[in-house]
Amino acid sequence: MDAELTRSLVVAADLLANAQAVAVLTGAGVSAESGVSTFRDARSGLWSHFDPLQLASPEGFAADPGLVWRWYMHRLAAVEAASPNPGHLALVQLERLTPGFTLITQNVDDLHERAGNVHTLHLHGHIARFFCQTCQTPYTLRPEDRTAPMPPVCRFCPGYIRPGVVWFGEILPERELRAAWQAADACDLFLVIGTSGVVYPASQLPLRARRHGAPIIEINPEASELSPLADICLRGPSGVVLPHLVAQMHRR
Ligand code: OAD
Repeated sequence: MDAELTRSLVVAADLLANAQAVAVLTGAGVSAESGVSTFRDARSGLWSHFDPLQLASPEGFAADPGLVWRWYMHRLAAVEAASPNPGHLALVQLERLTPGFTLITQNVDDLHERAGNVHTLHLHGHIARFFCQTCQTPYTLRPEDRTAPMPPVCRFCPGYIRPGVVWFGEILPERELRAAWQAADACDLFLVIGTSGVVYPASQLPLRARRHGAPIIEINPEASELSPLADICLRGPSGVVLPHLVAQMHRR
């Protein structure tokens, strides 16, 4: 670890250890070291190989429900095969060490929960939950649905079943979004981890925290749209930086 990162880690650990209410926003980068693809990485990001409007919008689903279904079944299998990485585990430690802690994620996987975080707000839904696109009735996935060429049809109406993720152009879950705004408004420290910060409204949360004076710490190997807001940028993979950060908090 270089000297600059080590110095910044000490300052960040001090801020965290003194914070009473910490809000954390995570993105796909947190799951990257578990083998789950990010969206905008130029080489391995999903949106550099696939068209988001074809695969992640109501219009794309209406145009080709089979294609969208098969793609989500493939992604679901990848998420189920993945395990939480040291970054996820360090966030569990952080939740235990911090009096007020709110974890807000844009990820549709359940790796934060599987690591052991108790309260996680999923702004973009869950890839392993399903409901009818027409009447919204929840649906329990059957083994045969995973390899089916088309989505299952709802038991109550002729609508197709779809994954419980928020697609482009759709509204975020109201309860989660409200809780996330509240956490951003009430926190005295905001951590932004593994997100490019380009998707609204999640990208506004650190701005909101900043407005009332909360310091922002970013963990990301690359600069992001949110880097200019950050007081401290810890440049490295979250699976490496987060365990060091928590260890530094214990050392104080
Ligand atoms: P992106 O793919 O846009 O950004 C991933 C970020 O993670 C980038 O800034 C990378 O530099 C960073 N990163 C990569 N590896 C990392 C690592 N090991 N540790 C830490 N950071 C790392 O993903 P998101 O910002 O999450 O929406 O994208 C936001 C939303 O756009 C997603 O929730 C998804 C997508 O369309 C929905 O599914 C609704």
